[in-house]
Amino acid sequence: MTSLNGTELKGYDTVVVGGTGNVGYFLVDGFLRAGARVLVPSRSTANVDRLRSRLGSAADRLVPVLGDIGTADGAVQVQEQVRQLSSELFAVASAPASWHQSHSMLHAGFAEFKNVIETRLYPHYLAAEALLPLIALGGSYTTINGPAGFINPPPPGIGAIAVAAAAQNKLIQAIAAETAGTPRVNDVVMKAFLGPDGTRPGSPLRGEQVGDFIAALAAHGTSVHNRTIQLTETGQVTEALSGTFA
Ligand SMILES: NC(=O)c1ccc[n+]([C@@H]2O[C@H](COP(=O)([O-])OP(=O)(O)OC[C@H]3O[C@@H](n4cnc5c(N)ncnc54)[C@H](OP(=O)(O)O)[C@@H]3O)[C@@H](O)[C@H]2O)c1
Repeated sequence: MTSLNGTELKGYDTVVVGGTGNVGYFLVDGFLRAGARVLVPSRSTANVDRLRSRLGSAADRLVPVLGDIGTADGAVQVQEQVRQLSSELFAVASAPASWHQSHSMLHAGFAEFKNVIETRLYPHYLAAEALLPLIALGGSYTTINGPAGFINPPPPGIGAIAVAAAAQNKLIQAIAAETAGTPRVNDVVMKAFLGPDGTRPGSPLRGEQVGDFIAALAAHGTSVHNRTIQLTETGQVTEALSGTFA
């Protein structure tokens, strides 16, 4: 199988945290192509409008949820809205916040480091805390991570984001250990370069393939739990669509 056929998540409700973003767009697109209804929390109606116009007619199964999942109060409000909109979620994918680069780990200063942790790591905790209780026991929660947290040592300029990414990975493992597979929780370290207009030149994977993989993991990866999956090659996407997650 080389793509989704619309039956994989048909009839299910899903959420994409960060769904208005560069990565999130492809996660929303993948869940929609798999047949799901997709709820997207966002702080901005303009961002939702842009997402809707990028998706075209597929956006009829897109449900915006206005709010800020990156604050404790905002996350509670988003949870309440999702509860009103859906009796049960089957899959959540989370790709909030964005890349960060600075001239120096030490000299950029504490305020900048604090900001990176607060805006890149905390939304992962808050989203998991708010949305995991709404997921069916047989469902799944998948976070998107990037390679920065897995390079030893991190090259100059990416120290702070590397700390956030490594911490995200440990956070998701700790949460996964607690759910014990009901629902399944995984962190996907994605090697793709995705920008506001789609897949960037030179990206090893197309955004659509990332969407295929995350939707296939939700639909077919029934025994995949508490794994850090390095998604680097097209072959992994083809295998995932056939239900294999090596
Ligand atoms: N882009 C890539 O190629 C790539 C590759 C590997 C890994 N990643 C990882 O994937 C994640 C997403 O990256 P991206 O490039 O898609 O970022 P992005 O374009 O900036 O999108 C992030 C989205 O998160 C949402 N968000 C919700 N609450 C937020 C909050 N409190 N603070 C900040 N954002 C919030 C924003 O939606 P609203 O503004 O609408 O609320 C925004 O659309 C990052 O962790 C990044 O490291 C990205």
